Amino acid sequence: MSNNETVFSKINVVIYLSYTSNSKRVALFCNNILNYNLIESSNVDLNIKYNNVLLVYPIHSENIPINLYNLIKNIKCNKMIVIATYGRINHGNSLYKLVYKYKLPIIGRCYFKCKHSYLKDDKYEPNYNELIPIINNFNNQDAKYIDIKKSSSTVGYNFFPKLRAQIGVKIILDKNKCNSCNICSEFCLNKAIINGKINKNCIRCLACVYNCPNNALDFKLSKILKFYLRKINDK
Ligand SMILES: Cc1cc2nc3c(=O)[nH]c(=O)nc-3n(C[C@H](O)[C@H](O)[C@H](O)COP(=O)(O)O)c2cc1C
Ligand code: SF4
Ligand code: SF4
Repeated sequence: MSNNETVFSKINVVIYLSYTSNSKRVALFCNNILNYNLIESSNVDLNIKYNNVLLVYPIHSENIPINLYNLIKNIKCNKMIVIATYGRINHGNSLYKLVYKYKLPIIGRCYFKCKHSYLKDDKYEPNYNELIPIINNFNNQDAKYIDIKKSSSTVGYNFFPKLRAQIGVKIILDKNKCNSCNICSEFCLNKAIINGKINKNCIRCLACVYNCPNNALDFKLSKILKFYLRKINDK
């Protein structure tokens, strides 16, 4: 073995980032098959050189969510499969970025349609079985590192996405239901909420809204965002 060759541990992991639980459900489904170690992305030990990594994350504004950058810049592994969940509007190009910009050793990948976090009455049911051939790639000795073509993104998708989300989504606190338990801040990866009160760091991921035990948080969409969400494509 040459001195430059990286030695990987035998540790296999399923890593997920999930704000409104779609990606977590995908991770749980896959881990039922793989039986690896299941880890939430902010708890990953980046000093370990992993063997196989399945990474599941949601698309935010046709891109990689901000809370994942530290992980993708620093993780080391032998082989990786990536599943990016999205709300059936446009998934953008994040898988392309992971291969060509971040040089991750990807042997399988897909964009996977899920419910849209911003649609309260979204009845879409993902077909998890579609993922089986992709994750089976870990057992394929001949699996190659992938080449992926660029897909199209919406013009201006990268133009102040946080500000656009803040304008498009209003988070409302019902003071009568809130008991100041501060559980919302435990779910917030951006230090953007204390006892239901939102500050300027908020990216409108809705983790706090979906996880408030007292249903004290709700959200309202602007007319423009409602109109944009009509583009949802179930084909
Ligand atoms: C801030 C934000 C931005 C989003 N941007 C997109 C998008 O550009 N295209 C899309 O199809 N879905 C988009 N979605 C929907 C999510 O990608 C989708 O619902 C995803 O499955 C959520 O995963 P999670 O429940 O694991 O957080 C967005 C959701 C949020 C909260
Ligand atoms: S989790 Fe809900 S009830 Fe608890 S402080 Fe936050 S908003 Fe209030
Ligand atoms: S405060 Fe904002 S960033 Fe934090 S969990 Fe809630 S929606 Fe997400």
